[in-house]
Amino acid sequence: MGPDLFDVAGRHVLVTGATKGIGEMIVRGFHAAGAHVYLTSRTAEDCAALADELGGRAVGLPADVSTLDGVRALAAAVAERTGTLDVLVNNAGATWGADIEDYPDEAWDKVLALNLKSPFHLTVACLPLLRAAATAERPARVIAIGSVDGMRVPIWESYAYAASKAGVHHLVKVMGKRLASEHITVNAIAPGVFPSKMMRFAIEEAEDELVASVPLGRLGQPGDAAGAAVFLASPAASWITGAVLPVDGGMVTLA
Ligand SMILES: NC(=O)c1ccc[n+]([C@@H]2O[C@H](COP(=O)([O-])OP(=O)(O)OC[C@H]3O[C@@H](n4cnc5c(N)ncnc54)[C@H](OP(=O)(O)O)[C@@H]3O)[C@@H](O)[C@H]2O)c1
Repeated sequence: MGPDLFDVAGRHVLVTGATKGIGEMIVRGFHAAGAHVYLTSRTAEDCAALADELGGRAVGLPADVSTLDGVRALAAAVAERTGTLDVLVNNAGATWGADIEDYPDEAWDKVLALNLKSPFHLTVACLPLLRAAATAERPARVIAIGSVDGMRVPIWESYAYAASKAGVHHLVKVMGKRLASEHITVNAIAPGVFPSKMMRFAIEEAEDELVASVPLGRLGQPGDAAGAAVFLASPAASWITGAVLPVDGGMVTLA
């Protein structure tokens, strides 16, 4: 056992949905730990602004990962800048809430495309780069962001979202099995409630109730998201694949 169990310095890390919320927390965590980060969202100015702020070891690569064309363009843009990718974090996601009888077909298409199909397609598109980084001693890592709402029935009527996140949790097992022999691990983080654009309305409406629903008595903080992602990318997690790690202040204990 070396002294560097949690060291990710020098790793090449691609994070989707990286300009806001949990993705930004994760990208900042990897960058502070000395990794090279490739950060992406649909908004070019946001990608450029965050990459500029971080300075060296940060590249902004705008892309829409909800389409296959967008996914392939992103993988190609990363490949122009690095020959190896140690870590892919499939974080970009969206939700849609509506009453059961008003729940539109469009919600299913939009939410499944971004939350469930995109992590699959981007992982496949990045396989050449991940394979180039992967060794038995130091596996490459794929980390998907699921949700506590994929493990329990959500508070809100978010049918496609909850189903997509349960799908993500199963997908990491299916892909983890396939890619283990290639020394690529595939795991998920299942966040509880973190302040973000997606959660802004819910937190404004009912912050006290949300906090009261968390056994550890607070909402998620940047270090909670970044810490879990850095752990799953670190030497300490080399022998973990197909796992779903709840990072939710204990909400999973109530499910
Ligand atoms: N916040 C929570 O409490 C919570 C809890 C459980 C799980 N999660 C999961 O955590 C992940 C991040 O959620 P968040 O709350 O941090 O979200 P957020 O604040 O809404 O941020 C979403 C990020 O994804 C980008 N994005 C959205 N659509 C995209 C697309 N089609 N292609 C590329 N990038 C796209 C956004 O930038 P642009 O709009 O500029 O593209 C933004 O950077 C999601 O998978 C979510 O389901 C969040």
